[in-house]
Amino acid sequence: MYDRKRNLQAPFREAAGKGLPTLTPFRRLSTPSGGCEGMPRMSDKDKASGIREGEVAIELPKQFDASVYFIGRIHTPWKKREDCPKTARESDAVCRIEVDPRWAAGLKDIESCSHVVVLYWMDKARRDLVLQVPRHYGEQRGTFALRSPARPNPVAMSVAKLLRVEGNTLSVVGLDCLDGTPLIDLKPYFASTDAEPGATVGWHGKKTDPA
Ligand SMILES: C[S@@+](CC[C@H](N)C(=O)[O-])C[C@H]1O[C@@H](n2cnc3c(N)ncnc32)[C@H](O)[C@@H]1O
Repeated sequence: MYDRKRNLQAPFREAAGKGLPTLTPFRRLSTPSGGCEGMPRMSDKDKASGIREGEVAIELPKQFDASVYFIGRIHTPWKKREDCPKTARESDAVCRIEVDPRWAAGLKDIESCSHVVVLYWMDKARRDLVLQVPRHYGEQRGTFALRSPARPNPVAMSVAKLLRVEGNTLSVVGLDCLDGTPLIDLKPYFASTDAEPGATVGWHGKKTDPA
C-alpha cells in the first residue's frame, strides 16, 4: 500500500494558525535545462521518489476519515504499469473480475446489464500529488482535472462491457489496471442517466487520451 516515506518533499506548509495548506512560493527551477518559471524547485529526494519537474506533493492528513472493503480482485494481462492501456478504451483484452464469495449474492441480476461501472483501487499509486505533469502531455495540471491514478483516494473507474457471469466471476472488456488490482464496487451503467455525449474537457482539446 501507500508508502509515507515517498511524501518527504511536500512543498506545501501549514498556513500559520489556520491549519490550511499553502503553496510555498514558486521559484525558478535550477535544473541544468533551466526549468520553467512558476514551478516549484525539485529536490534530489523528489527525483528519487518518482516525482516529475512541475509536480507538487502535499503532506497527507494524519488520519483517514473512512475505510473501504476490497470486495474482490481484478485479473488483467498487465503486470507492469507501463504495459497497462492508458485508458480502458485502448484495449479489447478480456479481463476477469473475481468478487469475494462473501459478496457473491450481490451479483444477482447483474448478468442482465450490458455494461457495468467498475470502481477499483489503484493500490500502487501515490496519494499526495496535487499538481501533476502527465508524461505523455508534459504540462502541469491539477489532480482533479486528470484521470491519473495518483490522487488522495486512488479510486479509478471504467465503464466495462459485460461478456458473461460465471458464479462470482465476471468477464469484461474495458479495463486498464494491473493484474490483482483491488475491486471496490460494481454498479449498472445507465446510458439514460450516465451518458453526457456533449461533455467536454477544455484543456484536453483534440487529444484522444484522457489520462
Ligand atoms: C490513467 S489511469 C485511468 C484509470 C481509470 N480508467 C479512470 O479513469 O479512473 C490508468 C493507468 O493507471 C495505472 N495503473 C493501473 N493499475 C494501477 C494500480 N493498481 N496502481 C497504480 N496505478 C495503476 C496504469 O499506468 C494505467 O495505464
